[in-house]
Amino acid sequence: TQFETVIRGGKVVTAADTFIADIGITDERIAAIGLSLDGARVIDATGKLVLPGGIDSHCHVEQLESDGSVHEETFGTAGRSAFAGGTTTLIPFAPQFKQQTIAAHAENYRARAARSPIDYALHQIITDPTDAVLDGELPVVIAGGVRSLKMFLTYDPFHVTDGEYLRVLAAAKRFGATVCVHCENYDAIGWRSEALLKAGRPEPASHAVSRPKVVEREATYRAIALAELVDQPIHIFHVSCGEVAEEIARAQARGVKVTGETCPQYLVLTAAEMARPGREGAKFMCSPSPRDAGDAEGLWAAIRAGTLDIISSDHCGYSFEGANGKAINGLDADFTRIPNGVPGLAARLPITFSEGVAKGRITLNQFVALTATTPAKRFGLYGRKGSIAPGFDADLVIWDAARRVTLTNSLMQHAIDCTPYEGLDVTGWPVMTIARGAVVMQDGVVTATAGQGQFVPASLSDDAKPRGVVPHDFDAALV
Ligand code: URP
Ligand code: ZN
Ligand code: ZN
Ligand code: ZN
Repeated sequence: TQFETVIRGGKVVTAADTFIADIGITDERIAAIGLSLDGARVIDATGKLVLPGGIDSHCHVEQLESDGSVHEETFGTAGRSAFAGGTTTLIPFAPQFKQQTIAAHAENYRARAARSPIDYALHQIITDPTDAVLDGELPVVIAGGVRSLKMFLTYDPFHVTDGEYLRVLAAAKRFGATVCVHCENYDAIGWRSEALLKAGRPEPASHAVSRPKVVEREATYRAIALAELVDQPIHIFHVSCGEVAEEIARAQARGVKVTGETCPQYLVLTAAEMARPGREGAKFMCSPSPRDAGDAEGLWAAIRAGTLDIISSDHCGYSFEGANGKAINGLDADFTRIPNGVPGLAARLPITFSEGVAKGRITLNQFVALTATTPAKRFGLYGRKGSIAPGFDADLVIWDAARRVTLTNSLMQHAIDCTPYEGLDVTGWPVMTIARGAVVMQDGVVTATAGQGQFVPASLSDDAKPRGVVPHDFDAALV
């Protein structure tokens, strides 16, 4: 057989294995893995790694806001940035706002996503879980291939009460979906923020002070305990430190189906960055807050223990200067009125590889598991995405493990005017990205067209299935 394309002689890395082989691609899929494969087109990968394309299972792209504004990062620019960094699938967020239905924004968001150059699945944010939403709309959304919900325990205007959270957990269990949770205590942050503002401390550095680790730790414990009450699996988003991971580990040890992720910002940034002069600290402001020097080691320990098993970017498209980004409430807005989030689509794989593999903290196989395979499995894309095997989409990245690069904003290729990783030295860099068999990035040049990305419907993953243990005599029918 002659394949359309053969990737020749690279060191193929999956979550389970590392070996030198050729990869044969035909009709957008991996058709064969072997030696001396014959291709109409041959791409030489000798001396390089060949990895599954990254799956960024938590990123905010062209996200609609309740005030009618839209994140500056469109699917077009996000796709370009992702491809530049070796990522081939995104899972951004379709919104729901308080006192509105899911349907109110579904068409708008789907139309934006339809212009995506990169394949994507979707999470559904739930902020107002009325009966109409949970029993009327949610089953339709889930049947349409959106099998993960996001709940916020903090943030105006998104946060839900414990009661609302419980109702969503129960609905997710009824219809079959996983639930991702942003864990911070709303009232605790509000109380501290008010005190900081009264004390005349409106600057970005107060962000970290307003939401210390214990605020995240309490909400994480609570999110897990309530999920345990319902017997609904949950995934904890953006874990910032080892103390929070400890709550997840304790629950896992007693059999609860809870998983967790962290993000590069918690591996390389600290709260000290937010104390830069003027408003510059806003560039590093995300929630949970970056912690202190040394906290990254707690996260790496939790990663090696398997407590945290995904590294996502939590990419947020807020520019520093633009009127729709960090400055949306003016240049002198206090820390409570500056949008939270940092961009990181293109930086995710290089930082994880450099801090993880190049520094000897994780293996190559763990790197692939954290950035592609486990996100695909958790969010129901596996079988098509997340590994290198016959039948899978030919989503691949050719990786130069020795290349040293100093990160700059232009290398990120996003629509945002800054990166919190400016000046960070990394070892390891993607030299080619292939999406469903097509070269979409070569030596930093991205060639991908709007609409080329497909919506990938998710199936119910094993991780998302209840374990069948409900505390006390409480029948599922009562839910
Ligand atoms: O600060 C962050 N992470 N903003 C994005 C929204 C979220 O909470 O994930
Ligand atoms: Zn409230
Ligand atoms: Zn969040
Ligand atoms: Zn997020």
